[in-house]
Amino acid sequence: MHALIIRNAALPDGRTGQDILVDQGHIVAVGPALAAQAADSVDVGGLLVSPPFVDAHFHLDAALSYGLPRVNASGTLLEGIALWGELKPTLTREAIVERALRYCDWAVARGLLAVRTHVDTCDPRLLACEALLEVKRRVAPYLDLQLVAFPQDGILRYDPRRDDPSCTVSALALLQRSLDMGVDVVGGIPHFERTMADGAESVRLLCEEAARRGLRVDMHCDETDDPMSRHIETLAAQTHRLGLGGRVNGSHLTSMHSMDNYYVSKLIPLMREAGVSAVANPLINITIQGRHDTYPKRRGMTRVPELLAAGIDVAFGHDCVMDPWYSLGSADMLEVAAMGLHVAQMTGQQAMRDCYRAVTETPAKILGLDGYGIAPGCHADLVLLGARDPVEAIRLRAPRLKVWRRGRLVAQSASAEAQLVLPGRPDRVDFML
Ligand code: FE2
Repeated sequence: MHALIIRNAALPDGRTGQDILVDQGHIVAVGPALAAQAADSVDVGGLLVSPPFVDAHFHLDAALSYGLPRVNASGTLLEGIALWGELKPTLTREAIVERALRYCDWAVARGLLAVRTHVDTCDPRLLACEALLEVKRRVAPYLDLQLVAFPQDGILRYDPRRDDPSCTVSALALLQRSLDMGVDVVGGIPHFERTMADGAESVRLLCEEAARRGLRVDMHCDETDDPMSRHIETLAAQTHRLGLGGRVNGSHLTSMHSMDNYYVSKLIPLMREAGVSAVANPLINITIQGRHDTYPKRRGMTRVPELLAAGIDVAFGHDCVMDPWYSLGSADMLEVAAMGLHVAQMTGQQAMRDCYRAVTETPAKILGLDGYGIAPGCHADLVLLGARDPVEAIRLRAPRLKVWRRGRLVAQSASAEAQLVLPGRPDRVDFML
């Protein structure tokens, strides 16, 4: 007798009528009409069962801090960074932990079971690192948290004596200390350094740090409308030089939106050759970029369809939820996928499925998650959606009817069905054709 069998599921790859057999936290078999018995049997009636959502880019140390100590009046990236600088000295470990745990509750309820979060290392106390390492341990039974050492104020630009005059170590030393503490990935922010040359130098230093330690790299890279911000070129070159292919990601890459087409025709093959992946953050890019434009106003999101066409892995991240940069959001990666789809005009059938992959399989690959997917041997981490396929899931921001982690039910939601009281019309609608 097995633990769980899910019957008559549609899968994201298009298969329908599939049963999924689960035992001891793993998927044992997948196929039509499996002749197996289980203690718990759930007939999902043809609805979509998906591996969980994965967020490739987030800031859990800032999430749910909206309004502290004030709101971002201009809505710009730079005011957000300044605001975070005002908030940072007032933070306590307990407050960061509490907010982060609360966000992880939201994530699980949305079927989001893996998050790569950047954590600010430009702090002599490394308070957020300590807090999020604690959160990582505490949520591990139900959510995979991957931490990126993120020097928010620039690894070369930030002087720790600004915050603690008695501090004797550099921003790089603080970042190294965070990695010693157990932070998983090396981050960076080359476009925020003082000069283009400093930006390039920061990429070199940080990639070498990652190479020495055998770690992955994920940099905030070129999050600007400046078409001359070309740190992704350096990131690709350093990835190639140090043999880090498959372990390096460029986040945002918004300058690519504004770059000269000829230059991009050289750049994208360089990224492909180096094995650098990309993460766009549609909700944030569409609200933060183009702020200096009148009209026409640029969208600012990186060139997602072109990167995908070149064979580069592209994921979508949420980036922010109710923090100094963004006052909205609810851990809903289908909202992220929907925004990415619209901003990139990815409305073809395959393109829409690519948008679903950008919040599931692709970020799982970028994070290097083990046992992700719906196949024998994979973890039984599964989400039952109130939709019949990935496109419908995006269209409806489908409710997560059930969420399983290692075969155990960890969240459930009601369907999106509405009751009608209209003479001569049906008494309910479920928004499906
Ligand atoms: Fe970010």
